Amino acid sequence: MLALYRLFTLALASVACARTLDVRQVTNTNAAINAIVDRLDETMRHAGPAILTLMANHKLSPTTLGTQMDSIGAAFRRTTTALAATPVSGGSTTVMPTNDEIAVTYSDAMQLVSASLSGIIRNGRVPNFPTMVATLDPIMAAAATQFNKTLPNSISLVAIMLRDAGQFLLAEGFNQTFAAIKPTTAPTT
Ligand SMILES: *[C@@H]1O[C@H](CO)[C@@H](O)[C@H](O)[C@H]1NC(C)=O
Ligand SMILES: *[C@@H]1O[C@H](CO)[C@@H](O)[C@H](O)[C@H]1NC(C)=O
Repeated sequence: MLALYRLFTLALASVACARTLDVRQVTNTNAAINAIVDRLDETMRHAGPAILTLMANHKLSPTTLGTQMDSIGAAFRRTTTALAATPVSGGSTTVMPTNDEIAVTYSDAMQLVSASLSGIIRNGRVPNFPTMVATLDPIMAAAATQFNKTLPNSISLVAIMLRDAGQFLLAEGFNQTFAAIKPTTAPTT
């Protein structure tokens, strides 16, 4: 009798456990993900124009650009850590923030990076730019991969949005980031 009772308790516990698992699989954590991606985008909205201003004011140097590259790297690293600590989202195409809205914000952050850095090589004032890119590249790639994990398949819209900016990423040496996103090539219509 006691054995049967134990078995019953065990069965109940495993049912409860299975339910918890189920719930976790369909939980929509988009709001938390959106907050993380918004923070990233906000950093890029400062860093992007700051880099363009450095160029316009002839203040571009390994030191001034290095400061911006460091803050970009820190922001993407924070993003990876925060996303990794967020439960995988069941997502939503209807409830705000939707999967697409978040992916569009993420694309915006990526585009700000690629666009603001697109003139650095030609400018020639930062000879160690390739080294800076080599440092930042795996950090941005890891963030993109984690984003696609926490919000499953979110990178596919980013890939479409980065159709044009993707070429800049490759030209700047962000090969790992490019590979993590695999920007869709422009349709030949
Ligand atoms: C993104 O995640 C989906 C599954 O959620 C997977 O099928 C796809 O291959 C991933 N994309 C990349 C570029 O890793
Ligand atoms: C990035 O890829 C391009 C083209 O595939 C290649 O020419 C270049 O050497 C690569 N750069 C790095 C840093 O691996």
